Amino acid sequence: MNQFYNPVAVSFGSASAESFANLFEKRYADIKRVLLLTRGAGVEKSDCLQPVMNTLSLKETSVIEVTLNNPNVADILKLKQEIGSFDYELIVAIGGGSVMDAAKVLSALQSKTYQTAAEVREAITSERYREEPHFTPWIGIPTTSGTGSEVTSWATVWDEEHGSKYSVSDERLYASAAFILPELTVTMPLRLSVATALDALCHATEAYWSVHTNAITRVYSLEAIERIRRTLPLLIEQPDNLVWREQLSLASVLAGMAFSNTRTTACHSISYPLTMLYGIDHGIAASITLASVMRHNLDALIEPDKLMHAFGAADMDEVDDFIRNIYNLYGLSSSLGQYGVTVEGIRNIVSHSYTKGRMDNNPVEISPEELERMLVSLL
Ligand SMILES: [Fe+2]
Repeated sequence: MNQFYNPVAVSFGSASAESFANLFEKRYADIKRVLLLTRGAGVEKSDCLQPVMNTLSLKETSVIEVTLNNPNVADILKLKQEIGSFDYELIVAIGGGSVMDAAKVLSALQSKTYQTAAEVREAITSERYREEPHFTPWIGIPTTSGTGSEVTSWATVWDEEHGSKYSVSDERLYASAAFILPELTVTMPLRLSVATALDALCHATEAYWSVHTNAITRVYSLEAIERIRRTLPLLIEQPDNLVWREQLSLASVLAGMAFSNTRTTACHSISYPLTMLYGIDHGIAASITLASVMRHNLDALIEPDKLMHAFGAADMDEVDDFIRNIYNLYGLSSSLGQYGVTVEGIRNIVSHSYTKGRMDNNPVEISPEELERMLVSLL
């Protein structure tokens, strides 16, 4: 069946900050207290954000800098303690995926207080937050182009202590609105720009072949892949070029739309232990297996020619070449060994690679033995 649902009001382009005030007037005129989460480094002082900041200045706003990467249960506890008794009615998140994921978790867990990280862990793993009658609304303003968190209804919380990664997930975690201002991504370090674009490439490609794919999500996927394929090599040459930044911001939202309805598959499932155990950046950890997983899925692809075309490729070898070329252009290694992975470590990666709701979305089953062989070939 071809169904699509995404309730986020998306505004795209530099003028969209102006519409922030209109949205506020229409939906949030009566609220008094706003929690503003920012990625720090004075991002809220950016020229393009002034219409947003002017609107927020009319409310009681508590600003919290979320400078962490990949929030874990202890980080969430710390944020809750920092916020204290401030009774926010709306969250505005200005930052990358980690900031927006923190906003979602603080939306779901607002009504409860926690004394220990163990209590936060329990609240998340038991999914008791889903019994809450009300989630705090939140608005996303991404400063990176890749995560897609501004248009999805789940957040990732890490737990290094338990060697786990959790998903906080609920339909009510969709943002009320997302404002995509490509200018904000210009200050992103190039490594992060490349890694986040590769993350978006995986979102789009995995959505294309997910068991939940449909005719609508595949259109979003193909548009996103084509834009990333055309633009990412150009951005690596000219990181300050706003046209390339706009294209990648748009591709990221399109990819986000696609996987908001399909979720991700094997590449993301395998990426979690690569990030947890070896600290590999999310976008690199996800994309390092993209070509291998595509090869594995090839016979199950719907309209494989369209996917190849979006990659500008005639066959799988050319898809592989494209991804390797991106890695080479920026000087990233596409060999797992260069990130510290060893033959001995691969069994452990395999044992942590089967995340429910991710690996089982892959259209072709990957046995542990097949996955082990795949990872060894990438050493
Ligand atoms: Fe991702």
